[in-house]
Amino acid sequence: MHFMTKSNPIGVFDSGIGGLTVVKQIKNLLPNENIVYFGDTARVPYGSKSNATVIEYALQDAQFLLKKNVKLIVVACNTVSSVALQVLRDKINLPIIGMISPGAKMALKETANKKIGVIGTYATVNNKAYSKEIMKFDKKSKVFEKACPLFVPFAEEGWLNTEATKFVAKEYLKELKEKEIESLILGCTHYPLLHEVIQEAIGDKVKLIDSGIAVSYEVREYLQARNLLNDSAAKGEDLYFVSDLPEKFRTVAELFLGNKIKHLQKIDLEEEIK
Ligand code: DGL
Repeated sequence: MHFMTKSNPIGVFDSGIGGLTVVKQIKNLLPNENIVYFGDTARVPYGSKSNATVIEYALQDAQFLLKKNVKLIVVACNTVSSVALQVLRDKINLPIIGMISPGAKMALKETANKKIGVIGTYATVNNKAYSKEIMKFDKKSKVFEKACPLFVPFAEEGWLNTEATKFVAKEYLKELKEKEIESLILGCTHYPLLHEVIQEAIGDKVKLIDSGIAVSYEVREYLQARNLLNDSAAKGEDLYFVSDLPEKFRTVAELFLGNKIKHLQKIDLEEEIK
C-alpha cells in the first residue's frame, strides 16, 4: 500500500456522470476532503455490457485514480460494484469502497415489513447483487428487482423531470408498485438525479434509499478509524476527469452539484495508465 497522508484526495469513479450523486454526498459530509473524479463518458453505459468488459474497464479506471495518489477509491457505480469489486480489491493496492453493501444495510434499517425493491441496470439486476447482500443479513427479506436501463440516458441528457422521463418511470415501476414494498433502493448512481420522478411514480409512501448517502458515512468511518480525515480548514479541491465530451458533462454536473466546476479535463485513459 502507498504511503498516505490526510491531504491525499479521495478517488471516485463511475461510467459517466452518475457518480456525482455520490460525490455530492461525500462533499456534504466531508467538505474539506479533496476529490479526484473520473467519469468514463466515452464508454458509458457499463450496465448493458458483459461482466468481463465491465471488469476490464473498472481496472483501468481504478489504475487512473491510483496514479493520482488517492487515499482510497469509491466505486461510485453500482454496475461495477456488482461485478468487479472483488477483482478490484485483489488487483488494486488501495482500500476500495463499493455501493452495494452500504446501500443494502441502509435499506434493511429503513424497512419494517421486509419488502424491499431494487432498481438498477441490467448488470446489477441480473447479478442480483443487492438481493444476495440483503439475504446475508436477513434471510426473511423479500427483494424485488427491476432493471430500468433507460433512466441512465435520461440522466446523462439532463432530462431530470420531463414528461418523457415521467412516462418511462411509470412504466418501469408499475410492477413494483403492486409488491407492497416499503423501500426502494436506487441501485444505480444515476438514479438519484431522477429522485423526484421516481418518487412520484412509486408513490410517496415508499422510502427511496440513496446508497450514496450510506457510502459517504462508510468513507468517513474508514478515514476516521485510520486517522486519515483531512483536517485542513480549507474547502476541498475537486478535480474532474472524463474520457469524452467535457462540455456536456459540465452542464449537467453543474446543474446537479449546484456549483461551478473549476477543473474539468478530457483525458486519454490508455495513455494515462501506460
Ligand atoms: N452508474 C451506473 C451504475 O450505477 C449506471 C450507468 C451505466 O450503465 O454505466 O450502475
